[in-house]
Amino acid sequence: MTKNIVNEIAKKLCLSPKGILAADESTNTIKKRFDMIDVESNFESRRSYRELLFKTRNLNEFISGIILYDETIKQSTSEGIPFPKYLSENGIIPGIKVDKGAIPLDKDSGEKFTEGLDGLNKRLEEYKKLGAEFTKWRAIINIDLSKNYPSLYCLEANAFMLARYAKTVQDYEMVPIVEPEVIMDGIHTIEDCYEVTSSTLKKVFEQLNLHQVNLSGILLKPNMVISGTKCEEQASIEKVAKLTVQCLTEHVPKDVPGIVFLSGGQSNEKATLHLNEMNKLFKDLPWKLSFSYGRALQQPSISSWKGEENNIKISQDALFKRSKLNSSATSGVYSPNDEHQML
Ligand code: 13P
Repeated sequence: MTKNIVNEIAKKLCLSPKGILAADESTNTIKKRFDMIDVESNFESRRSYRELLFKTRNLNEFISGIILYDETIKQSTSEGIPFPKYLSENGIIPGIKVDKGAIPLDKDSGEKFTEGLDGLNKRLEEYKKLGAEFTKWRAIINIDLSKNYPSLYCLEANAFMLARYAKTVQDYEMVPIVEPEVIMDGIHTIEDCYEVTSSTLKKVFEQLNLHQVNLSGILLKPNMVISGTKCEEQASIEKVAKLTVQCLTEHVPKDVPGIVFLSGGQSNEKATLHLNEMNKLFKDLPWKLSFSYGRALQQPSISSWKGEENNIKISQDALFKRSKLNSSATSGVYSPNDEHQML
């Protein structure tokens, strides 16, 4: 029974031509985004911004689910409709970030360890009552070859946490999005990223199996295999697509229904192009390849909003446009020319 429920939600979340909007920035992170447009971050400004996103007309044509933050899932529209209820009524599945963020793996370490198992059951009970049907936990894996990062300890510890989280979430009949993010920052090459992503996914699936997680009822949210931001040689779109799919094919079991990428600091256009190239080149993959972007969907909306009521419509149009373009990329039919078309 539980299995059927989570499998169905997982399938719905990655059903073509849709993807997921990550709007689960923590209070600290959204403050950084608001600082860039000179908007004060407070309870009401964060609520208004999220309301603007969620009320984008016909968003449900391209977006299957939205990941919320603890504060947001308890907020309401200006008419007083709780956000999760509003989303469900408008054909979008509400989800929730449940990890508690990352701390240094060791004192003075540049590696990270994501916390949040303490009190998780209680939080899940509450989120479920509030209407959440899926959840997210993000692990952070840094690459720094001069320091031998990532260490085996970092990979094992984070994989364990991801798996224990996933198992617990499924017990509450919700879908866990399992997000091991190999960070783009650094001088490493795309081949280094391939190696690290490969070791990370290997550990994650070992732990998921050990914890007897139902793989048909999860979504994987990985990074793409990509050159480090400061690497002198930036790999082509085609190389990113080929190495990413090769790495996933080696490690992701066929039972997993969908892989929904994070954008990780890629430009909006690159995030769309890479996803498109994968879906254009590879037609017979066992899993859906879609998106669960935060920055690459929201950047144009947030910068055109600037905290002004008068800008709500252009900000919503910007979200609609990026959602539609990424939706095309899930079928491999996006063209860069579409960027300039009226949508
Ligand atoms: P980005 O697409 O901005 O990387 O965010 C996705 C996300 O949910 C990170 O946890």
